[in-house]
Amino acid sequence: MPQPRGYSRIQIVLHWTIAALVIFQLFVNEAMQHAFADQLDGKQVEDENGALLHMVVGLTVLLLAAIRLIVRLLRGAPAPYKDTPAILRWLGHATHVLLYGFIFLMPLTGATAWFLGLEVAAELHEIGRLILVPAIGVHVIGALAEHFVFRNDTLMRMLRATAD
Ligand code: HEM
Ligand code: HEM
Repeated sequence: MPQPRGYSRIQIVLHWTIAALVIFQLFVNEAMQHAFADQLDGKQVEDENGALLHMVVGLTVLLLAAIRLIVRLLRGAPAPYKDTPAILRWLGHATHVLLYGFIFLMPLTGATAWFLGLEVAAELHEIGRLILVPAIGVHVIGALAEHFVFRNDTLMRMLRATAD
């Protein structure tokens, strides 16, 4: 895979857009939970718009994640800094892989639960949240540690694009 100096503008826009939408989904899901319970009970869904919002935002994440993965495979990503301890570089890599997985798995389990009425998929969706939230926490702490403790431009390169 190619190893450019930094991220491109499209990679940066996709990172922050997906991050914002995922965080939105983690906070705004109550209407969908009620709608799903109504659907399972065979009742008329009360707050259809709230459920629709969670669905549309979630499916947008899936679409953007697919574009992001293609761009990532074609363009690659910059290497981690050598001055960061090996264990933290490994943790950073593992967290990125996990987060990539989640931006696909959360929409897919949610959609399977909603469209097929599968409770087991809803449970996986819920377990997903329990892993995703700490993973985001580790990721954010890692980004801040790179910036303030190791004083490299890991955080800045996710804000400023490079041509190569
Ligand atoms: C980035 C994408 C998504 C995230 C981060 C996300 C997050 C969440 C969270 C945190 C909950 C509450 C879970 C709980 O504590 O019970 C939830 C519930 C739910 N979401 Fe999503 N969601 C996403 C995408 C979707 C999509 C695309 C759909 C459907 C098309 C969907 C359908 C549902 C359903 C049916 C529930 C209710 C499950 C239940 O009550 O057991 N989600 N979602
Ligand atoms: C809001 C707080 C967030 C901050 C401060 C942040 C910061 C960063 C930074 C600085 C990088 C670049 C790391 C490097 O170049 O080595 C990065 C990469 C990444 N972030 Fe975030 N991020 C945040 C939220 C998220 C969220 C919510 C997700 C997904 C759920 C996410 C997924 C990723 C992934 C998958 C990468 C790897 C990119 C690649 O190499 O292709 N980030 N993040």
